[in-house]
Amino acid sequence: MLLILHPDIQSTDEAYINTMAFLDALPGIQVRQHQVQGQQQALTEIYLLGNTHALDQHDIEALPAVERVIRISEDYRILGRHRDEKRLAGFTYNGIEFSQDSLNVFAGLCAVDNPKHVEEMLSALKANGLQCTRMGAYKPRTNPYAFQGHGADCLPWVFDLAGKYGIKVIAMEVTHEQHIAEINEALDQSGNPCGVILQIGTRNTQNFELLKAIGRQTRHPGLLKRGFGITLNESLNAAEYLASEGNNQVIFCLRGMKSDFGAPHRNLVDFAQVPTVKRLTRMPVCIDPSHSVGTRERSPDGILELCHATTQGIIAGANMVLVDFHPAPEKALVDGPQAMLLSELEPFLKDVEIARNAYLARKA
Ligand code: E4P
Ligand code: PEP
Repeated sequence: MLLILHPDIQSTDEAYINTMAFLDALPGIQVRQHQVQGQQQALTEIYLLGNTHALDQHDIEALPAVERVIRISEDYRILGRHRDEKRLAGFTYNGIEFSQDSLNVFAGLCAVDNPKHVEEMLSALKANGLQCTRMGAYKPRTNPYAFQGHGADCLPWVFDLAGKYGIKVIAMEVTHEQHIAEINEALDQSGNPCGVILQIGTRNTQNFELLKAIGRQTRHPGLLKRGFGITLNESLNAAEYLASEGNNQVIFCLRGMKSDFGAPHRNLVDFAQVPTVKRLTRMPVCIDPSHSVGTRERSPDGILELCHATTQGIIAGANMVLVDFHPAPEKALVDGPQAMLLSELEPFLKDVEIARNAYLARKA
C-alpha cells in the first residue's frame, strides 16, 4: 500500500508525527519512506509492506498527514504508476528536465576514441544547440579482443571538453561498480559542473549487484536499458532495483530485442512499447534507434532508416533519444556502421522536431 502525504507536510508537524506513530505501531507492517522530487515540488511517499490486505484503506486515508492511498497491485513498487495519473514523475538533473513530458536528445559517440573526434562531436552539438551527449568510456564487447573503451584514462579530457562546449549531461555506460568511483573522481578533479547519467547496458540489465550499486548512490541518475532477451516485466523489475536502493531518478531505455525476425536490422525495434512503459511506470522513456536499427541504410524515400525509427518512437511519446553520431564512422572503434555523420545531425534534429510537434498536437 502506498500513501501520498500532503505536499506541504513537514516532519515536525503534529499531523506527520501522529501519522507515523500510528503506522509504526501497525503489527507486521514495515514502513518505508521515500522523497520524490518533481519539477514543482517534493512529495513524501510512504510504502507499507507486509500483509496490507488486512488494513482498512479508509482508516489509513483518514490519517491527518495522508492525502491519498494507492493500492499497489503490480511489481515495480516505487517506479510503477499503479494507475494513479497524479503520481509525480520525473526529475531535474543539472538544469535539464527528465520527465514523461520532456524530450532530450543525447547524440554522441558510441565509444570515445580520441580527443579530436570528441571535440568535433561536441562542437557539432553546440552548433545545433544541444546540451546533452552520450560518450562511451567503458564498452561491453561481444569479443574479448575487441576495443573495450579507454575507461578512466579518457575521463579527464572528455569532461574538460564537455565543459568547453557547454555540455550539461553525459550518458555514460558503467559495467562495474568501480567505474562510478572513477567517474566521480574525474568529475571532482575537472571542476566541470557537467552531470553524468549512469547507463546500464542491455548486457547488464539483470546484473543485480551493479543495479544495487547504482541504486545506492544518488549523485547520478540511472539509465537502464531493456534486456535484449528478457520480458519487459523483467526489465522493469530490474529498473526497480535502483529505486529500491534509494535512487529513484531512473530513465528506462528501449533499444530493440534480439530476434532473427528483426534482420536485416540489428535488433527488432520495440518503440511501440513507449506508451506501455509510460502507462505502467512513471519513468521517462528513452529510445535508442542506433542499437535497435544498427545500420545507416536509407529507405527508398532517401531517409535514413534510423530517422524513421526515431520518429516512430517520438510520435509514440519518447522522452529521450540516445543516438550514435561520429565525425568519421569508418574510423570508429565501436559500431561505426550505425553512426550517423555529423552532416546528418541537423536534418535528424529537424525530423525529431516534426515528430515531437506531431506527438504534442495529437496529445493536445
Ligand atoms: C555498444 O555500443 C556495444 O559495446 C556494442 O554494441 C558492442 O557490440 P559488439 O561487441 O558485439 O560489437
Ligand atoms: C551503448 O549504448 O553503448 C550500448 C552498449 O548499448 P546496448 O547496451 O543497448 O547494447
